[in-house]
Amino acid sequence: MSKSQQNPICHTAQPSAEFYSIFSDAEILDILQTLANRREISLKYFYKGQGANIWDNFYLNYLRPRWYRPVNREIALLNDNFEVITRKIHAVNTVNLIDVGAGNSYPVKQFIRRLHRLGKITRYIALDISEDLLKVSQQNIKKWFPHIEFISDRIDIENHSLSQILLNHQVNLKTDDTAQIILHLGVTMGNHHNRTAVLQNFRDSMGYNDVLVFTNEIGSNCQWDGTVRGGLKYHVDQVYAWVKKAMGIRAEDCELVRKYDPKTDSIVAMIKFRQNYRINFRLMGEDECLEIAEGEEIAIWRQHKFEIPELVREIEQAGPQLIHYKTDNYSSNIMVICEID
Ligand SMILES: C[S@@+](CC[C@H](N)C(=O)[O-])C[C@H]1O[C@@H](n2cnc3c(N)ncnc32)[C@H](O)[C@@H]1O
Repeated sequence: MSKSQQNPICHTAQPSAEFYSIFSDAEILDILQTLANRREISLKYFYKGQGANIWDNFYLNYLRPRWYRPVNREIALLNDNFEVITRKIHAVNTVNLIDVGAGNSYPVKQFIRRLHRLGKITRYIALDISEDLLKVSQQNIKKWFPHIEFISDRIDIENHSLSQILLNHQVNLKTDDTAQIILHLGVTMGNHHNRTAVLQNFRDSMGYNDVLVFTNEIGSNCQWDGTVRGGLKYHVDQVYAWVKKAMGIRAEDCELVRKYDPKTDSIVAMIKFRQNYRINFRLMGEDECLEIAEGEEIAIWRQHKFEIPELVREIEQAGPQLIHYKTDNYSSNIMVICEID
């Protein structure tokens, strides 16, 4: 007998109208199944709706270079690796920059400017799970680079390769006179539940001239010293506030816990319930309820840092060929560059 069967449900929550306006039926089904099977709401869903503002504000307040914080690790890594990333573009006429999980596109601003000076960039293609962040990306790119063609579309890179989506926009990925630079920045690789599927989807989207560039944190997850900063502090605080509101969970019934999770070898943020809870979802006209027992925890955020040998192994197993990697000056973040044979 589960704890909630022994003790009565103390509170029944209803997700808000905003929740239903943001998520499709398919997404609500996935959220429900993931909650039921592994007590997690995938972080990818927290970039939609209000989550888009949360990310954009977090980026502008804490990551964007400012006079008192001149260095952004991702921008520096893109700069330092520019020659390797662009080594194949001299042989082709056109270059598409495909930014998967583009966010607000801020990290690629300098990179596009440099690519533009080489006279090669034809299109910037922003792909993201969040329609709302695609709108932010569009506004930024059109303001910064009015002469570059901007294309955007929704993708969940855990479940789809790029090919079909780009074909819908008449972008043929595998041609001899075009190179694609595919970016997956912002340490997003370490947020995914199924990194192998993501790497395989990238591999299946790539042609001979193409390059995949991604970043991640490096180090040992289990040796985390408990310091809470950066995304683990500010992004998590905002996501926690929003998820309570979106799900109708009362502040006094839960707490936020950050910890090392040995099952996924990741640092996670969890909502811990102080009461037996029922959340009543509406899905395709039917009620679907989820029961959570006092003391249970639900993951709402995760980051997996890579040890370098493990990173090399995961890439090898998924298929792209690792051609180069470089860590930043603090040995905390890595940029990884892959091609296919
Ligand atoms: C950590 S932010 C990074 C944004 C940007 N690349 C940067 O470096 O600032 C993660 C981005 O990836 C998107 N994202 C997360 N999971 C995704 C998925 N499975 N498929 C597509 N986009 C995803 C989010 O909506 C968000 O824009």
